Amino acid sequence: MVGNSKPAAYCNHPINLVLRPEDGETFEKLAKQVEYCEISWPQSYLFGEPIYIRKEKKMDESKAVELYRKYRPSKFSEMVGQDEAIGVLTALGKQIAMPQFLLFTGPSGTGKTTAARILKSRLKCHDMDFVELNAASERGVDMVRDIGKQMYFAPMAGDCKIWLIDEAGSVTSDGQSAFLKMLEDTPSWCYFFFCTTDPQKLKPTIRTRATEIKFKPVGRAELKELIHRTAEAETGVGFNDDVSDKIVDLVNGSARKALVLLGSVIGIDNSDQQLGALSGVEAERNAIDLCRVFMNPRARWSDVCKVLKAINGLDEDVETIRHIVLSYFSKVALGGGKGAERAIEIIYLFRSPFYESKTAGLVLACYDAVTPKK
Ligand SMILES: Nc1ncnc2c1ncn2[C@@H]1O[C@H](COP(=O)(O)OP(=O)(O)OP(=O)(O)O)[C@@H](O)[C@H]1O
Ligand SMILES: [Mg+2]
Repeated sequence: MVGNSKPAAYCNHPINLVLRPEDGETFEKLAKQVEYCEISWPQSYLFGEPIYIRKEKKMDESKAVELYRKYRPSKFSEMVGQDEAIGVLTALGKQIAMPQFLLFTGPSGTGKTTAARILKSRLKCHDMDFVELNAASERGVDMVRDIGKQMYFAPMAGDCKIWLIDEAGSVTSDGQSAFLKMLEDTPSWCYFFFCTTDPQKLKPTIRTRATEIKFKPVGRAELKELIHRTAEAETGVGFNDDVSDKIVDLVNGSARKALVLLGSVIGIDNSDQQLGALSGVEAERNAIDLCRVFMNPRARWSDVCKVLKAINGLDEDVETIRHIVLSYFSKVALGGGKGAERAIEIIYLFRSPFYESKTAGLVLACYDAVTPKK
Protein backbone atom coordinates (compact mmCIF):
# COMPACT_ATOMS: atom_id res chain seq x y z
CA MET A 1 0.00 0.00 0.00
CA VAL A 2 1.29 3.43 -0.87
CA GLY A 3 -0.11 6.01 1.44
CA ASN A 4 0.27 9.49 2.70
CA SER A 5 2.42 9.06 5.77
CA LYS A 6 1.04 12.13 7.50
CA PRO A 7 -1.34 11.63 10.40
CA ALA A 8 -4.73 11.99 8.79
CA ALA A 9 -6.46 12.62 12.08
CA TYR A 10 -5.24 16.14 12.50
CA CYS A 11 -5.29 17.49 8.99
CA ASN A 12 -7.97 20.00 8.12
CA HIS A 13 -7.26 19.74 4.45
CA PRO A 14 -8.07 17.04 1.92
CA ILE A 15 -5.92 13.99 2.22
CA ASN A 16 -5.01 11.79 -0.67
CA LEU A 17 -4.14 8.16 -0.58
CA VAL A 18 -3.22 5.68 -3.23
CA LEU A 19 -4.08 2.16 -2.14
CA ARG A 20 -2.72 -0.82 -4.01
CA PRO A 21 -4.25 -3.90 -2.45
CA GLU A 22 -1.87 -6.83 -2.09
CA ASP A 23 -3.02 -10.24 -3.21
CA GLY A 24 -5.90 -11.41 -1.04
CA GLU A 25 -6.38 -8.13 0.78
CA THR A 26 -9.83 -6.66 0.84
CA PHE A 27 -10.62 -3.00 0.70
CA GLU A 28 -12.16 -3.19 4.14
CA LYS A 29 -8.92 -4.55 5.52
CA LEU A 30 -6.97 -1.76 3.87
CA ALA A 31 -9.36 0.83 5.13
CA LYS A 32 -8.70 -0.22 8.68
CA GLN A 33 -5.04 0.67 8.21
CA VAL A 34 -5.96 4.18 7.26
CA GLU A 35 -6.86 5.75 10.55
CA TYR A 36 -9.90 8.03 10.66
CA CYS A 37 -10.43 7.84 6.93
CA GLU A 38 -13.86 7.06 5.57
CA ILE A 39 -13.64 5.58 2.14
CA SER A 40 -16.34 4.95 -0.39
CA TRP A 41 -15.55 2.03 -2.63
CA PRO A 42 -15.81 2.11 -6.39
CA GLN A 43 -18.61 0.14 -8.03
CA SER A 44 -16.27 -2.02 -10.04
CA TYR A 45 -12.63 -2.69 -9.49
CA LEU A 46 -9.92 -4.51 -11.41
CA PHE A 47 -7.70 -6.30 -8.95
CA GLY A 48 -4.23 -4.76 -8.61
CA GLU A 49 -5.34 -1.45 -10.10
CA PRO A 50 -4.42 1.48 -7.87
CA ILE A 51 -7.34 3.24 -6.32
CA TYR A 52 -7.30 6.94 -5.75
CA ILE A 53 -9.12 8.14 -2.73
CA ARG A 54 -9.81 11.64 -1.71
CA LYS A 55 -11.62 12.53 1.43
CA GLU A 56 -12.17 15.94 3.07
CA LYS A 57 -10.97 15.47 6.58
CA LYS A 58 -11.93 18.01 9.16
CA MET A 59 -9.71 18.69 12.13
CA ASP A 60 -10.71 16.56 15.09
CA GLU A 61 -12.69 19.21 16.98
CA SER A 62 -12.61 17.45 20.33
CA LYS A 63 -8.81 17.50 20.29
CA ALA A 64 -8.47 21.11 19.18
CA VAL A 65 -8.66 22.99 22.47
CA GLU A 66 -9.48 26.63 21.98
CA LEU A 67 -6.33 27.70 23.75
CA TYR A 68 -6.53 31.29 22.61
CA ARG A 69 -9.79 31.74 24.51
CA LYS A 70 -8.76 29.73 27.52
CA TYR A 71 -5.47 31.60 27.92
CA ARG A 72 -6.55 35.13 26.99
CA PRO A 73 -4.36 37.37 29.17
CA SER A 74 -6.18 39.11 32.02
CA LYS A 75 -3.23 41.35 32.93
CA PHE A 76 -0.86 43.42 30.82
CA SER A 77 2.05 41.44 32.28
CA GLU A 78 0.68 38.27 30.63
CA MET A 79 0.76 39.80 27.15
CA VAL A 80 3.82 39.24 24.99
CA GLY A 81 5.53 41.36 22.34
CA GLN A 82 3.59 44.59 22.90
CA ASP A 83 5.79 46.42 25.40
CA GLU A 84 5.44 49.74 23.60
CA ALA A 85 1.65 49.68 23.38
CA ILE A 86 1.34 48.53 26.99
CA GLY A 87 3.81 51.21 28.10
CA VAL A 88 1.62 53.88 26.47
CA LEU A 89 -1.58 52.44 27.99
CA THR A 90 -0.06 52.24 31.47
CA ALA A 91 1.21 55.81 31.22
CA LEU A 92 -2.21 57.04 30.06
CA GLY A 93 -3.85 55.34 33.03
CA LYS A 94 -1.67 57.36 35.38
CA GLN A 95 -2.65 60.71 33.87
CA ILE A 96 -5.16 62.85 35.71
CA ALA A 97 -7.42 62.91 32.69
CA MET A 98 -7.31 59.71 30.72
CA PRO A 99 -8.14 60.35 27.03
CA GLN A 100 -11.72 59.32 26.30
CA PHE A 101 -11.22 58.10 22.76
CA LEU A 102 -8.60 55.40 22.13
CA LEU A 103 -7.86 53.74 18.82
CA PHE A 104 -6.20 50.30 18.98
CA THR A 105 -4.59 49.53 15.61
CA GLY A 106 -2.47 46.66 14.29
CA PRO A 107 -2.59 43.25 12.64
CA SER A 108 -5.13 40.60 13.58
CA GLY A 109 -4.49 38.43 16.64
CA THR A 110 -1.87 40.65 18.24
CA GLY A 111 -3.78 41.69 21.35
CA LYS A 112 -5.93 44.76 20.56
CA THR A 113 -9.22 43.47 21.97
CA THR A 114 -7.39 41.76 24.82
CA ALA A 115 -5.64 44.99 25.85
CA ALA A 116 -8.87 46.98 25.55
CA ARG A 117 -10.62 44.52 27.89
CA ILE A 118 -7.76 44.65 30.40
CA LEU A 119 -7.95 48.43 30.35
CA LYS A 120 -11.67 48.18 31.04
CA SER A 121 -10.92 46.35 34.31
CA ARG A 122 -8.18 48.81 35.23
CA LEU A 123 -10.60 51.70 34.77
CA LYS A 124 -12.98 49.91 37.16
CA CYS A 125 -15.72 49.67 34.62
CA HIS A 126 -18.46 47.24 35.68
CA ASP A 127 -19.69 44.65 33.19
CA MET A 128 -23.10 46.36 33.22
CA ASP A 129 -21.51 49.54 31.86
CA PHE A 130 -19.37 47.85 29.25
CA VAL A 131 -20.74 47.43 25.74
CA GLU A 132 -18.81 45.54 23.09
CA LEU A 133 -20.06 46.03 19.54
CA ASN A 134 -18.84 44.67 16.26
CA ALA A 135 -18.99 47.36 13.61
CA ALA A 136 -18.86 44.74 10.84
CA SER A 137 -22.42 43.73 11.75
CA GLU A 138 -23.81 47.00 13.18
CA ARG A 139 -21.95 49.51 11.03
CA GLY A 140 -23.93 52.67 10.69
CA VAL A 141 -25.54 55.78 12.01
CA ASP A 142 -28.13 53.85 14.05
CA MET A 143 -25.45 52.25 16.20
CA VAL A 144 -23.85 55.63 16.85
CA ARG A 145 -27.20 57.30 17.63
CA ASP A 146 -27.98 54.53 20.06
CA ILE A 147 -24.69 55.14 21.88
CA GLY A 148 -25.43 58.87 21.80
CA LYS A 149 -28.71 58.31 23.64
CA GLN A 150 -27.22 56.05 26.29
CA MET A 151 -24.04 57.91 27.08
CA TYR A 152 -25.79 60.61 29.12
CA PHE A 153 -26.95 58.12 31.75
CA ALA A 154 -24.39 57.82 34.55
CA PRO A 155 -22.67 54.44 35.08
CA MET A 156 -24.88 51.85 36.78
CA ALA A 157 -22.25 50.29 39.01
CA GLY A 158 -18.59 51.19 38.43
CA ASP A 159 -16.72 54.40 37.72
CA CYS A 160 -17.24 54.72 34.00
CA LYS A 161 -18.99 53.46 30.87
CA ILE A 162 -17.06 52.02 27.94
CA TRP A 163 -18.03 51.23 24.38
CA LEU A 164 -15.60 48.92 22.67
CA ILE A 165 -16.14 48.99 18.92
CA ASP A 166 -14.41 46.09 17.21
CA GLU A 167 -13.62 46.26 13.48
CA ALA A 168 -14.17 50.00 13.72
CA GLY A 169 -12.90 50.39 10.14
CA SER A 170 -16.28 49.05 9.00
CA VAL A 171 -18.29 51.95 10.49
CA THR A 172 -19.93 53.70 7.53
CA SER A 173 -18.93 57.19 6.51
CA ASP A 174 -22.21 58.61 7.90
CA GLY A 175 -21.68 56.66 11.10
CA GLN A 176 -18.20 58.13 11.46
CA SER A 177 -19.53 61.69 10.95
CA ALA A 178 -22.24 61.10 13.56
CA PHE A 179 -19.60 59.77 15.93
CA LEU A 180 -17.43 62.85 15.46
CA LYS A 181 -20.37 65.07 16.42
CA MET A 182 -21.00 62.93 19.48
CA LEU A 183 -17.40 63.30 20.60
CA GLU A 184 -17.93 67.06 20.98
CA ASP A 185 -20.29 66.41 23.78
CA THR A 186 -19.08 63.30 25.63
CA PRO A 187 -19.79 63.12 29.38
CA SER A 188 -16.68 62.69 31.55
CA TRP A 189 -17.57 59.10 32.49
CA CYS A 190 -17.61 57.79 28.91
CA TYR A 191 -14.79 56.12 27.02
CA PHE A 192 -14.69 54.83 23.46
CA PHE A 193 -12.24 52.15 22.44
CA PHE A 194 -12.05 51.55 18.69
CA CYS A 195 -10.14 48.44 17.54
CA THR A 196 -9.21 47.98 13.90
CA THR A 197 -6.79 46.30 11.53
CA ASP A 198 -7.64 48.96 8.89
CA PRO A 199 -7.18 52.41 10.45
CA GLN A 200 -6.89 53.89 6.95
CA LYS A 201 -10.62 53.24 6.52
CA LEU A 202 -11.35 55.78 9.25
CA LYS A 203 -11.73 59.44 8.35
CA PRO A 204 -8.60 61.49 9.07
CA THR A 205 -10.73 63.69 11.35
CA ILE A 206 -11.54 60.63 13.50
CA ARG A 207 -7.93 59.48 13.61
CA THR A 208 -6.65 62.87 14.70
CA ARG A 209 -9.20 63.02 17.51
CA ALA A 210 -8.16 59.61 18.86
CA THR A 211 -5.15 58.58 20.91
CA GLU A 212 -3.71 55.77 18.77
CA ILE A 213 -2.21 52.70 20.41
CA LYS A 214 -0.22 50.74 17.86
CA PHE A 215 0.10 46.97 18.07
CA LYS A 216 2.83 45.19 16.12
CA PRO A 217 3.15 41.66 14.76
CA VAL A 218 4.43 39.64 17.72
CA GLY A 219 8.15 38.82 17.41
CA ARG A 220 9.60 35.35 17.05
CA ALA A 221 11.05 35.01 20.53
CA GLU A 222 7.86 36.29 22.16
CA LEU A 223 5.66 33.92 20.15
CA LYS A 224 7.87 31.02 21.19
CA GLU A 225 7.63 32.08 24.81
CA LEU A 226 3.82 32.21 24.51
CA ILE A 227 3.64 28.79 22.82
CA HIS A 228 5.86 27.09 25.40
CA ARG A 229 4.16 28.79 28.35
CA THR A 230 0.70 27.83 27.09
CA ALA A 231 1.65 24.26 26.16
CA GLU A 232 3.22 23.68 29.56
CA ALA A 233 0.21 25.13 31.38
CA GLU A 234 -2.05 22.84 29.35
CA THR A 235 -0.08 19.58 29.53
CA GLY A 236 2.26 20.01 32.49
CA VAL A 237 5.25 18.97 30.36
CA GLY A 238 7.69 20.71 28.03
CA PHE A 239 6.98 21.32 24.34
CA ASN A 240 9.20 20.39 21.41
CA ASP A 241 11.31 23.27 20.15
CA ASP A 242 11.18 22.27 16.45
CA VAL A 243 7.40 22.20 16.59
CA SER A 244 7.17 25.65 18.16
CA ASP A 245 9.63 26.95 15.52
CA LYS A 246 7.40 25.55 12.79
CA ILE A 247 4.30 27.17 14.31
CA VAL A 248 6.06 30.53 14.46
CA ASP A 249 7.04 30.17 10.77
CA LEU A 250 3.39 29.82 9.83
CA VAL A 251 1.65 32.61 11.71
CA ASN A 252 3.05 35.97 10.52
CA GLY A 253 3.28 37.39 14.02
CA SER A 254 -0.27 36.53 15.10
CA ALA A 255 -0.46 35.25 18.68
CA ARG A 256 -4.01 34.02 18.07
CA LYS A 257 -2.97 31.93 15.06
CA ALA A 258 -0.04 30.53 17.04
CA LEU A 259 -2.40 29.35 19.78
CA VAL A 260 -4.88 27.96 17.25
CA LEU A 261 -2.13 25.89 15.63
CA LEU A 262 -0.82 24.83 19.02
CA GLY A 263 -4.35 23.73 19.92
CA SER A 264 -4.53 21.63 16.76
CA VAL A 265 -1.35 19.66 17.53
CA ILE A 266 -1.17 19.61 21.32
CA GLY A 267 -3.19 16.37 21.51
CA ILE A 268 -0.64 14.56 19.34
CA ASP A 269 2.07 13.12 21.54
CA ASN A 270 4.73 12.48 18.94
CA SER A 271 6.61 15.53 17.67
CA ASP A 272 7.21 14.02 14.20
CA GLN A 273 3.47 13.65 13.77
CA GLN A 274 2.95 17.16 15.08
CA LEU A 275 5.34 18.43 12.41
CA GLY A 276 3.53 16.32 9.81
CA ALA A 277 0.19 17.87 10.75
CA LEU A 278 1.68 21.37 10.57
CA SER A 279 3.14 20.70 7.15
CA GLY A 280 -0.45 20.16 5.96
CA VAL A 281 -1.26 23.66 7.19
CA GLU A 282 1.82 24.94 5.41
CA ALA A 283 0.81 23.22 2.18
CA GLU A 284 -2.56 24.92 2.43
CA ARG A 285 -0.95 28.32 2.80
CA ASN A 286 1.40 27.69 -0.11
CA ALA A 287 -1.47 26.55 -2.29
CA ILE A 288 -3.41 29.72 -1.56
CA ASP A 289 -0.31 31.78 -2.51
CA LEU A 290 -0.23 29.88 -5.78
CA CYS A 291 -3.93 30.58 -6.42
CA ARG A 292 -3.32 34.29 -5.88
CA VAL A 293 -0.57 34.24 -8.50
CA PHE A 294 -2.88 32.49 -10.98
CA MET A 295 -5.61 35.04 -10.40
CA ASN A 296 -3.24 37.91 -11.18
CA PRO A 297 -3.47 38.64 -14.92
CA ARG A 298 0.06 40.09 -14.90
CA ALA A 299 1.59 37.06 -13.18
CA ARG A 300 4.69 35.60 -14.82
CA TRP A 301 6.56 32.36 -14.58
CA SER A 302 9.08 33.96 -12.19
CA ASP A 303 6.21 34.70 -9.75
CA VAL A 304 5.21 31.04 -9.76
CA CYS A 305 8.85 30.01 -9.22
CA LYS A 306 9.05 32.19 -6.13
CA VAL A 307 6.08 30.40 -4.57
CA LEU A 308 7.20 26.90 -5.58
CA LYS A 309 10.76 27.44 -4.37
CA ALA A 310 9.50 28.47 -0.95
CA ILE A 311 7.84 25.07 -0.48
CA ASN A 312 9.83 22.48 1.45
CA GLY A 313 9.18 18.82 0.71
CA LEU A 314 7.18 19.64 -2.39
CA ASP A 315 6.97 16.02 -3.54
CA GLU A 316 4.99 15.05 -0.45
CA ASP A 317 2.51 17.87 -0.77
CA VAL A 318 1.78 18.10 -4.50
CA GLU A 319 -1.55 16.31 -4.26
CA THR A 320 -2.68 18.36 -1.28
CA ILE A 321 -1.76 21.52 -3.15
CA ARG A 322 -3.56 20.33 -6.27
CA HIS A 323 -6.78 19.69 -4.36
CA ILE A 324 -6.68 23.07 -2.66
CA VAL A 325 -6.12 24.76 -6.04
CA LEU A 326 -9.08 22.81 -7.48
CA SER A 327 -11.38 23.66 -4.61
CA TYR A 328 -10.36 27.35 -4.68
CA PHE A 329 -11.01 27.69 -8.42
CA SER A 330 -14.22 25.66 -8.28
CA LYS A 331 -15.57 28.27 -5.89
CA VAL A 332 -14.39 31.06 -8.19
CA ALA A 333 -15.96 29.35 -11.21
CA LEU A 334 -19.29 28.80 -9.47
CA GLY A 335 -19.25 32.40 -8.26
CA GLY A 336 -19.86 33.23 -11.94
CA GLY A 337 -17.97 36.51 -11.76
CA LYS A 338 -15.18 37.92 -13.90
CA GLY A 339 -12.67 35.26 -12.92
CA ALA A 340 -14.91 32.31 -13.83
CA GLU A 341 -13.37 31.66 -17.24
CA ARG A 342 -9.85 31.82 -15.87
CA ALA A 343 -10.89 29.48 -13.05
CA ILE A 344 -12.13 26.87 -15.53
CA GLU A 345 -8.80 27.08 -17.37
CA ILE A 346 -6.93 26.35 -14.14
CA ILE A 347 -9.30 23.52 -13.14
CA TYR A 348 -8.65 21.97 -16.55
CA LEU A 349 -4.87 22.06 -15.99
CA PHE A 350 -5.06 20.66 -12.48
CA ARG A 351 -7.81 18.08 -12.95
CA SER A 352 -5.61 14.93 -13.13
CA PRO A 353 -3.60 13.61 -10.20
CA PHE A 354 0.16 14.15 -9.89
CA TYR A 355 0.66 10.82 -8.09
CA GLU A 356 3.26 9.60 -10.54
CA SER A 357 4.74 12.82 -11.91
CA LYS A 358 4.80 14.51 -8.46
CA THR A 359 6.64 17.84 -8.47
CA ALA A 360 7.24 17.73 -12.23
CA GLY A 361 3.50 17.40 -12.85
CA LEU A 362 2.77 20.36 -10.63
CA VAL A 363 5.50 22.47 -12.24
CA LEU A 364 4.13 21.71 -15.71
CA ALA A 365 0.55 22.58 -14.77
CA CYS A 366 1.78 25.84 -13.19
CA TYR A 367 3.83 26.66 -16.28
CA ASP A 368 0.82 26.12 -18.56
CA ALA A 369 -1.29 28.25 -16.23
CA VAL A 370 0.83 31.37 -16.62
CA THR A 371 2.16 30.93 -20.15
CA PRO A 372 -0.01 32.23 -23.01
CA LYS A 373 -1.21 29.50 -25.33
CA LYS A 374 0.34 29.43 -28.80
N1 LIG B 1 0.20 40.03 22.68
C1 LIG B 1 -0.40 38.90 23.10
N2 LIG B 1 0.08 38.20 24.15
C2 LIG B 1 -0.52 37.03 24.54
N3 LIG B 1 -1.60 36.51 23.93
C3 LIG B 1 -2.11 37.18 22.88
C4 LIG B 1 -1.55 38.39 22.43
N4 LIG B 1 -2.25 38.83 21.37
C5 LIG B 1 -3.22 37.94 21.17
N5 LIG B 1 -3.14 36.93 22.07
C6 LIG B 1 -4.00 35.73 22.11
O1 LIG B 1 -4.82 35.77 20.96
C7 LIG B 1 -6.20 35.89 21.30
C8 LIG B 1 -6.83 36.93 20.39
O2 LIG B 1 -6.28 38.21 20.63
P1 LIG B 1 -7.12 39.53 20.40
O3 LIG B 1 -8.58 39.22 20.30
O4 LIG B 1 -6.72 40.49 21.45
O5 LIG B 1 -6.54 39.96 19.00
P2 LIG B 1 -6.92 41.25 18.14
O6 LIG B 1 -5.66 42.02 17.92
O7 LIG B 1 -8.08 41.95 18.74
O8 LIG B 1 -7.31 40.55 16.76
P3 LIG B 1 -8.45 40.96 15.67
O9 LIG B 1 -7.88 42.12 14.89
O10 LIG B 1 -8.55 39.73 14.80
O11 LIG B 1 -9.70 41.29 16.40
C9 LIG B 1 -6.22 36.25 22.77
O12 LIG B 1 -7.32 35.66 23.39
C10 LIG B 1 -4.93 35.69 23.30
O13 LIG B 1 -5.09 34.36 23.68
MG1 LIG C 1 -10.07 42.09 18.16
